[in-house]
Amino acid sequence: MSKICSIALFILALSSFQAVTHSAPLALLGGTKIRSLASVNTVSIDERSPAVPYPMVEYDTKKLLSDGTIKCIEDPSVFKEDDKRVFEKRLEDVVLGDKIAAGSNNFGIWMLTHDYKGYHKSDLIVKILPVAGPKSYGEVKALRIMGLLVESGEIKVNEIRVPHFEMLPKDLEGKSFYPAIIMKKMPGKLLRETDLFKAAGPKEQLAVEEQVIDWSCKRAVKDAITHKVYHDDNNLANTLVTVSDGAIKAVDLVDYGSPGTYLVMKEVEEEKLYDMCSAKAHGKLKKSHLLRMFGHP
Ligand SMILES: Nc1ncnc2c1ncn2[C@@H]1O[C@H](COP(=O)(O)OP(=O)(O)OP(=O)(O)O)[C@@H](O)[C@H]1O
Ligand SMILES: [Mg+2]
Repeated sequence: MSKICSIALFILALSSFQAVTHSAPLALLGGTKIRSLASVNTVSIDERSPAVPYPMVEYDTKKLLSDGTIKCIEDPSVFKEDDKRVFEKRLEDVVLGDKIAAGSNNFGIWMLTHDYKGYHKSDLIVKILPVAGPKSYGEVKALRIMGLLVESGEIKVNEIRVPHFEMLPKDLEGKSFYPAIIMKKMPGKLLRETDLFKAAGPKEQLAVEEQVIDWSCKRAVKDAITHKVYHDDNNLANTLVTVSDGAIKAVDLVDYGSPGTYLVMKEVEEEKLYDMCSAKAHGKLKKSHLLRMFGHP
């Protein structure tokens, strides 16, 4: 197992100590969910007693990794030779437009200034990565399996701004071509950017956040069963919601980066995987609420 995978497991162990109950039926896994904010039925944070232990779940990532049920997407054993060549091609004809998001482990999510490979430019995004290594190969592989990959290769980047790194790491200084993934742009917005969320009061906001996290797990589990790619980094920054007529009509996942994405190698029980996802994702959400209470963004 790679070092990053081990770090992921350590973080997982730290973060999974708090999980909350969920109320939406698993039947929702079958299709797009349609629920208005008014019908969201979850327990708000301040109604939960900290004395009540969170439910134990039967699956945990560590166990699934150790018995070979899942493999980290950057595990060297998942790559064929071709998988390691996905950034060799130079994409000379690709021109980056606006940066739409600053990545935490990447050099941003960008638009294109032109249509590409039959896709309208508004249906694509480009993720610029620092280095072409297992982590990046893995993301390409997961996106390909999910049917979301359009192209990968090296792209010319005129200006790299990396506020979270302070300075560009030495080995990346002076480079003008970086590994990049061109992928389908998912519909929807981050929940916090929707009018529905902005108009809601604090309690409703908490409830709808929990609901969205629950849906993102259902989506992740459904994909794990059908595509054998398990998205285990379910948080509100990796979930886009489509709102129509004042209600959330669909939830889509983004970010198949590592750690947090796994290949499913053996059969997994849908319900148990859902419990695992839910426990972890709700735990993370609760942690982010606590951080927000202490002034973190
Ligand atoms: N396929 C996509 N379609 C639409 N928006 C996307 C897509 N991928 C990413 N985004 C937007 O860009 C933001 C950052 O992307 P992403 O989550 O992949 O980066 P990150 O969290 O920094 O990733 P990583 O941890 O893999 O470096 C997302 O929160 C989302 O708003
Ligand atoms: Mg992300």
